[in-house]
Amino acid sequence: MSIFITGIAGFVGCNLAATLLQRGDEVAGFDNLCRGSTRNLESILGHPRFAFDAVDLADIDAYRRALTRLHSRSPVTEVWHLAANSDIPAGIGDPGVDLRDTFMTTYNTLLLMRELGIGTIAFASSSAVYGDLGDRNLTEDTGPLFPISNYGAMKLASEVAISAALESYLDRAYVFRFPNVIGIPATHGVILDFVRKLKRSPGMLEVLGDGTQQKSYLHVDELVDAMLFIRRQAGDRLNYYNIGANDEGVTVRFIAESVVGRVAPQARISFGQGNKGWVGDVPKFSYSIAKLSGLGWRPTLGSSQAIRKAVNQIAEQESGN
Ligand SMILES: NC(=O)c1ccc[n+]([C@@H]2O[C@H](COP(=O)([O-])OP(=O)(O)OC[C@H]3O[C@@H](n4cnc5c(N)ncnc54)[C@H](O)[C@@H]3O)[C@@H](O)[C@H]2O)c1
Repeated sequence: MSIFITGIAGFVGCNLAATLLQRGDEVAGFDNLCRGSTRNLESILGHPRFAFDAVDLADIDAYRRALTRLHSRSPVTEVWHLAANSDIPAGIGDPGVDLRDTFMTTYNTLLLMRELGIGTIAFASSSAVYGDLGDRNLTEDTGPLFPISNYGAMKLASEVAISAALESYLDRAYVFRFPNVIGIPATHGVILDFVRKLKRSPGMLEVLGDGTQQKSYLHVDELVDAMLFIRRQAGDRLNYYNIGANDEGVTVRFIAESVVGRVAPQARISFGQGNKGWVGDVPKFSYSIAKLSGLGWRPTLGSSQAIRKAVNQIAEQESGN
């Protein structure tokens, strides 16, 4: 296989690339490095089956030139589209960020797949497409879908742009709805925020919201394993799956206490008001992975175990910075 990954220098992209190379695939990827870094690719940059180019995928002319060149050297068999704005609060401040980095990167990717005749796409979507449905157990067929962040809106718009493309020129699509994914190299997220805050002021950790927000967390190693499993086993034209831990998730209070315990045991934790960390934050979601379990994949770590593993890894990562 010759696999092209967008957003390859980001947290999930670099982990996926390393796993595909180990499996024997040819891997190429683009990233504009707005959030990712070539440091994340250090261990694979010299690999004979790997190629990287710094390209802004929202710039269709630059993207077309670079992908056409790559495709003529080594025809791409499928695209894994991971590039996006991964900072949800940033998109609240400026909705243009999600339009450009989340939706236009999808739109341009589809346009070029059509031009170059590449038929298979795998897409990193998100639980954010569900919006705030309270205690409802979210299955893939839950609806209607009304996201409450621009991030979720542009992920949902991307999903439906993919389904429309399937009707005319794509052969097959995989839509993965991720939960919160954790591990290294961390580029964003609650654990990294807490570790950095404690590095700046070791006596006190300020938490956005009252700490009762409760979500499901999956380690990136398991996420990559689940995506590749779905890619192998699911045989529909449009394959859409929730990927997550098999539990109700853990609270932000639990995460704050885990980080404090590891990084600054004397620190006091100060909680804010209300159960939302920011506008567009979904305070609680309960994620069904029954469809994925039915296909035959189950996570080995629960949310709390994944948090403990990632806290250790991220604390280690940041102690070197
Ligand atoms: N990590 C999570 O918890 C999580 C949860 C749900 C969904 N997702 C989705 O998974 C994917 C990967 O997320 P991640 O955690 O690795 O985030 P990340 O920010 O580490 O990676 C995204 C990469 O996309 C790149 N990018 C953004 N805009 C670009 C553009 N215009 N052109 C080229 N590159 C661009 C960034 O530089 C970054 O390297 C994203 O689509 C994200 O929305 C992640």
